[in-house]
Amino acid sequence: MPESRGQWSGRIGFILAATGSAIGLGNLWKFPYITHENDGGAFVLVYIAAVIVVGIPIMMAEILVGRRTQLSPVGAFRTLAQDRPGGGLWSGVGFLGVVAGFTILSYYCVVAGWTIHYTGLALSGRLVEMAGDAHVLQDYFGGEFLASGKHQVGYHLLFMVLTTSAVYFGVKGGIERVARILMPVLFLILVVLVIYSTTTPGFAAAIDFLFRPDFSTLTKGSVLEALGHAFFTLSLGMGAMLTYGSYMGRDISIPRAALQISALDTVIALMACVIMFSIINSANIEVSKSSTILFTTIPTVFAKLPGANLITAMFYILIGFAALTSTISLLEVVSSFAIDELGWSRRRATVTMGTAIAIFGVLNALSLGASSTLSAVNLIGRESTAGIFGTMDYLASNWFLPVGGLLIALFAGWVLGVRASREELETGHGEVSGFQVWRFLIRFVAPLAVGAIIVSVILGKEYQ
Ligand code: TRP
Repeated sequence: MPESRGQWSGRIGFILAATGSAIGLGNLWKFPYITHENDGGAFVLVYIAAVIVVGIPIMMAEILVGRRTQLSPVGAFRTLAQDRPGGGLWSGVGFLGVVAGFTILSYYCVVAGWTIHYTGLALSGRLVEMAGDAHVLQDYFGGEFLASGKHQVGYHLLFMVLTTSAVYFGVKGGIERVARILMPVLFLILVVLVIYSTTTPGFAAAIDFLFRPDFSTLTKGSVLEALGHAFFTLSLGMGAMLTYGSYMGRDISIPRAALQISALDTVIALMACVIMFSIINSANIEVSKSSTILFTTIPTVFAKLPGANLITAMFYILIGFAALTSTISLLEVVSSFAIDELGWSRRRATVTMGTAIAIFGVLNALSLGASSTLSAVNLIGRESTAGIFGTMDYLASNWFLPVGGLLIALFAGWVLGVRASREELETGHGEVSGFQVWRFLIRFVAPLAVGAIIVSVILGKEYQ
């Protein structure tokens, strides 16, 4: 007999864990830099529209499939598709999710590990010292730090150990407990940093940049990038929300939860932007539109402000905490597959899968050192200036997540019966007044929008 499946302690537990999954490097790192690349205001609006029109409906679909079956992705699709056209093939969507989780995690953990090192550097005062000269810091990051296999592998493994330990202790005792501690701290640090940023001279310009849309700068590429990012940041398209939904009680409203998680995720991404653009504007320096600004430019700017050591340390702790609750959800998808499908115990599943991913990640970590430039990482033969994160991002945002998301939307809209989906959305909620709207979005709008991303990738018009 497999051991009993875990469950969240209640609504708050679920919301915290799911928000923890959603809020991660995507919010604190990727969103600010793509907003910067895409010139602010109009891009932010399009992104918010993508969250509402595509993100929230797909999140509802994932959670409802998970809770209905109380199974992880592979089993969930297999069960629901049993007597439908295409039947067993649908469990492939679940497998795709497991592969995606494995891949994303093996990169994500390397980057997440950097935050541990930078927290240490900040606390010791060394970071601020180096940051006095932008070139010194740039050289340190791009050269010494990335080239140090010891550092890259060490911090990656440390982060994997933290991740695996949380998942090891189960849904309530591990995942939820960590989220309950880290999420409030994360929020508090963000609020402190936002208040801090209002006192900087660049604050007004940051607000202007973010919230005054100029549609003349918007390209088709920005629209697709906003859409792709909505997937990544909401942890959609690979069954993470589905898995978390499978531990959810029947007394919780799915539409309301999806709305709250998405709103929190977006607010926090915007707060991260306010902080970063305020300090960047304050420094009055030309900032390159690069994905590495978090570890190169940002400390340079912090260094010029009062309280630099502490503020910088807090900043990296914030990113590390956000990343940890996300890596936990990625590992949970892979582990729950082994638990549900292979009949392994949770302990065996997490330790085995955690170790396998850690080993795969070591290769990624070492590939950074193989050449001392960031563009060295080139897993799939595509020159990627954003390096390791870019490659991971390329695979995830362009292939795994859109394809997974498209299939999940098609499944919820066309394969799963209207009765079943209505019933599940109403469980714990009562009558869902916008049900027809949801159904329209999930049947037509979401597949078309996500299909557009996939088509543009296939045609080679990558949007990044
Ligand atoms: N959403 C997280 C972020 O923004 C990353 C993440 C965690 C994720 N779990 C996921 C992305 C599942 C896609 C699918 O950093």
